[in-house]
Amino acid sequence: MDSIKALRGFRDIYGEEIEKFALIEAASRKHLKLLGYKELEIPVLEKTELFKRSIGDTTDIVEKEMFTFIDRSGDSVTVRPEGTAGVVRAYLQGSFHAKERVSKLFTMGPMFRHERPQKGRFRQFYQMDVEVFGISEPMADAELIWMISLILKDLGLANYTIEINSVGCRECREGFRDALLGFLGSRKDGLCEDCVNRLDRNPLRVFDCKNEQCGEVIREAPVLFDHLCSGCKEHFDACLDRLTRFGVAFVLNKRLVRGLDYYTRTVFEVTSDDLGAQKAFLAGGRYDNLVHEMGGPSVPGCGFAIGMERLSLLIPTLPPKGAPLYFLATVGDRAGELVIPILRSFVASGLPLAYAVPARSLKSQMKYANSLGADHVLILSDEEVSRGVILVRNMQDGTQKEVPLETHSLPILVMQ
Ligand code: HAM
Repeated sequence: MDSIKALRGFRDIYGEEIEKFALIEAASRKHLKLLGYKELEIPVLEKTELFKRSIGDTTDIVEKEMFTFIDRSGDSVTVRPEGTAGVVRAYLQGSFHAKERVSKLFTMGPMFRHERPQKGRFRQFYQMDVEVFGISEPMADAELIWMISLILKDLGLANYTIEINSVGCRECREGFRDALLGFLGSRKDGLCEDCVNRLDRNPLRVFDCKNEQCGEVIREAPVLFDHLCSGCKEHFDACLDRLTRFGVAFVLNKRLVRGLDYYTRTVFEVTSDDLGAQKAFLAGGRYDNLVHEMGGPSVPGCGFAIGMERLSLLIPTLPPKGAPLYFLATVGDRAGELVIPILRSFVASGLPLAYAVPARSLKSQMKYANSLGADHVLILSDEEVSRGVILVRNMQDGTQKEVPLETHSLPILVMQ
């Protein structure tokens, strides 16, 4: 019988990759805590309407990529394709806005998009999602990007670029729409069918079309950046000024647009050429109308999400292990009896102790200890038990010492 495999684009994550996930999480948590963020957990399944209204009806995510189905009650539900929409819903449902002027929140977990799988692109992928509500000043955008640079520095990342742009507000977009429609109208032949269909509804979406043919047209299209209103221009300049004062290096990319409709003003992506085609491993921006559009008061917001798989591809090697690893090798019944008390005293002291079950020959246990990368092997046979000692072999230099077999203080004795 054939064994059952995971669905296409769905993966098991283990070994070095999951250890790198843990490193990303630890570095993020460290800085999130320093800057006053609070964690929240939100559902994976939400009403489909939530994503349609927030991400936008004409986006690729909503049009083509959502895992949507009718549940047993006959309601249309969707497994979340991203975190922001759910966090905004939770923010409103929990009346955060009524309780605090500023809310700094983060959540982590799996997201789902029915995209064509390739390197760094999966149908289930993980995000560390960070959102700030209640600050319209550009300091919030700059502080977020500064925090990102601190997290990446902790992870030892050097080869990356912070690309930044402003997509303006509704007013800037209205003016720009006409200029863009004029240009695209004259280049309709060069656009894919999807883009031609979207021209009336949302011509800005042409900018994030992944079709190569549209790419050529887009490269020559006018850019929104050149149509920013004075308020948006001032906001963006102030954001860049604060970034410079934080000591963060960035690149202005006037053609940077995002695949989600809710953004206003600042948008950014962090990219690396080491990743290949899917080179953005982190992305975000400001969304000053979203909370209101989702039925809440007029509260500004901004945030970002780390793509865990893509960032973990960039963490070169794992840093050296923390505590040394001890291995307990026993030979004989009396020695075997002591495995549990010795294991209990090591774990109580916070020291990792590995052992073989069932205990085989000493030679095979030594081989196993080696394969685990043990720093020291504690050797205990019935003969040592009767002498009241245990042997401690240093696996690096091969030296060996005897220490008294006192279970309670053994971790201290072997470390001396
Ligand atoms: P996004 O650009 O759609 O933004 O996704 C953020 C990051 O998630 C991407 O830069 C990428 O690293 C990762 N990602 C996206 N799709 C996939 C995939 N199919 N496979 C692997 N990784 C993927 C958002 O999701 C926004 N909610 C970010 C945000 C938060 N904006 C404001 N707050």
